[in-house]
Order: sequence, then structure tokens, then C-alpha cells
Amino acid sequence: MSGLFITLEGPEGAGKSTNREYLAARLREQGIEVVLSREPGGTPLAERIRELLLTPSDESMASDTELLLMFAARAQHLTGVIRPALARGAVVLCDRFTDATYAYQGGGRGLGEVRIAILEDFVQGPLRPDLCLVFDLPIEVGLARAAARGRLDRFEQEGSAFFEAVRQTYLRRAVASPERYRVLDAAQPLEAVQRDIAALLPDILERCRG
Ligand code: TMP
Repeated sequence: MSGLFITLEGPEGAGKSTNREYLAARLREQGIEVVLSREPGGTPLAERIRELLLTPSDESMASDTELLLMFAARAQHLTGVIRPALARGAVVLCDRFTDATYAYQGGGRGLGEVRIAILEDFVQGPLRPDLCLVFDLPIEVGLARAAARGRLDRFEQEGSAFFEAVRQTYLRRAVASPERYRVLDAAQPLEAVQRDIAALLPDILERCRG
């Protein structure tokens, strides 16, 4: 038995968490085991690495340190949560995964795709998400929503050029592999986004059975 690995991506404030809950509920109605997780994080140790990554600090973090910490947290998360859940046949709904590394460290920080791909192979082997839902949003809308939530984390403090690069990287990756990505317009009202998610359900259920 092998489960289905679905990731949710997009900028800050795109509504990934709310929509992840919605999708989880629809799948559970079908009797499917759903495991919710997030990156960076997902296990106690990986959540400690998340704190290091998100907490603003006087010492600026080198981009390579940031990249390696993302993959260190991912290695822990894969071993502790994702691989066991997939082996049980569960659907894993993960808020961000390696597409975020391509978008934020690759696009935002300007690190080359090549090094990210090397680390991806090293940490994940052949494992890739079966499906990646990209919640796309104009950057001003996302940043305003994030700001309204309160104190900004280390990434949310970045400027609009950073987030534009993040957005464009997600969209480019989605265009390059249409079978693995679905781009959703997250600027719509929540009910409309959820209608779009519901429209994806037959395909997702088919993949669960396949
Ligand atoms: P979030 O859980 O609130 O979305 O915060 C996680 C932050 O970490 C978000 O700004 C995106 C960033 N991130 C990366 O830069 N690279 C990654 O590989 C992942 C998983 C997240």
C-alpha cells in the first residue's frame, strides 16, 4: 500500500491552512486516513529547527545555513512522519515542502536550482509530492494579510522583490509540470477557492485508488 502525498504552497496569507482543513474534511468523509503536517516542522525536533529559521535575530543567517536547515528539518520530518504515513496508505496534506525551497531559497534568495536539486535527491531520494496545490495571490494581498496577523517572522520581513521572485518561481514550476501542479486563484473569496478545491476531488480520489 502506498499513500498520496499532497503539498500546499503559496505566499504568506494565501489561506493554505484553512483550505488544507477543508480538503482534509472532504477526504475523511470518504473514509480516507489524512495526516496533516507542515514544513519547516512537523516533528518536535523539526519544529525546533523551524524556530531557528523563523525567529528574527541580530545575527543575519547565511543563505546556505537557511537552505541546509530547511533540508535538515525535512529529513527529520520525512523519517518521523511523512514516510511512515505514506507506507500506511494515508494521504499526507503538507503545508509547504520542497517547492517552497525552490521558491524562497532558489527564487527569493537567488540560490541556484542546481544545489537545491542535489539536496532534494540527497534527502528525499526519489520521493516527490504526487500533487502540489499552488495558492496563487498578488503579493500585496498576501503581505497585507500576513501583516494583519501580527508580528512578522524572518521571511515576512522581506521586501516585495523577494516575494515576487517566490511567486514567479511557483508559477514557473507549475507550468513546467502540469500533471503535478494545480494553481488555484487564492485572491477569490474563500467559498470560491473551496469550490475550486472540490472540483479537484475526483482527480485526487482517483489518484488515491490508483
Ligand atoms: P509558514 O508556515 O507560516 O508559511 O512559514 C514558513 C516560512 O518558511 C514561509 O515564509 C516560507 C518559508 N520556507 C522556506 O523559505 N523554505 C522552505 O523550504 C519552506 C518549507 C518554508
